[in-house]
Amino acid sequence: MPVTKTPLRYPDGKSRLFPLMARLLAANGLTGGTWAEPFCGGAGLSMALLLEGCVSRVVLADADPAVAAFWQAVRERPEDLCAFIGRVDLDLVTWRRCHDLWAGAAEPSFGLACACLFLSRTNRAGILGARPMGGMGQTGPWALSDRFNRQDLEAKVRSIAALADRIEVRWCDATAFMAKVAPTLGPDAVCYLDPPYVAAGPGLYRRSLSEGDHRALAEALGRHRGPWALSYDACPLVDELYGPYGPMSFPATYTAQRKRAVEERLVLAGGLRAFKDGLGKAFVEDAVAPL
Ligand SMILES: C[S@@+](CC[C@H](N)C(=O)[O-])C[C@H]1O[C@@H](n2cnc3c(N)ncnc32)[C@H](O)[C@@H]1O
Repeated sequence: MPVTKTPLRYPDGKSRLFPLMARLLAANGLTGGTWAEPFCGGAGLSMALLLEGCVSRVVLADADPAVAAFWQAVRERPEDLCAFIGRVDLDLVTWRRCHDLWAGAAEPSFGLACACLFLSRTNRAGILGARPMGGMGQTGPWALSDRFNRQDLEAKVRSIAALADRIEVRWCDATAFMAKVAPTLGPDAVCYLDPPYVAAGPGLYRRSLSEGDHRALAEALGRHRGPWALSYDACPLVDELYGPYGPMSFPATYTAQRKRAVEERLVLAGGLRAFKDGLGKAFVEDAVAPL
């Protein structure tokens, strides 16, 4: 199982892009700068870049109040979060309480942050709105406690919290972020966008994008002047919106749901350059290897 820097299990998490992005930042003379991820989710890639010293500041945003609450709690209340991790009962009673809190959440709160972590560690595939591993009867081969290693999670929270002054968190829409926040981050800030995928997104997250939203995001990116990178599923809408940027392909993670290897798209723009051989031959081996 890949070892990630983020405490969250997150569907379609991009920790595996760390070797590629670290190398792309270096090749573009952008190591040590600001990295913004406005569809941050589990933020595994952002955390790897920050903890490995490839960037000096990370700006995270997500439209799901639970995700924003979680990253705010890591920054502002890490010891309270660790206390929750250390003592929470890993059972269906807690699961139900967290699920109901998540489902009814209107805004970020510390309780919601704890629910977000609990559900991401106990649900199938880390999907916040899914059922627990092992099902509601806890009769399957997996139990909901199987991915909740208290010591490991506390260590991850503390290692990120040690860099809290280099992390900003916002609860907002990514297209609004690109219009209003991204231009204030400085000319060298790299924005990495990993929107809910056109085909699979609606089943995985509380918030996903309509076709109009995908188009509005493409327009906002077209207006953005700094460097940006974007990952997406390979589908006609993405090829229509981003074809002019010369999108590249990279292998998707193999999952039980997908059952076969598929490709995803990566767009680099705003002056961000790929390697002479596109994403580089080594990328394929590095990016799929566990971090
Ligand atoms: C593909 S996931 C991002 C995964 C992330 N890159 C990772 O490595 O874990 C997409 C994320 O976008 C968020 N989201 C959906 N609609 C959004 C919007 N309009 N603005 C900002 N975030 C949004 C979802 O809550 C979800 O966390």
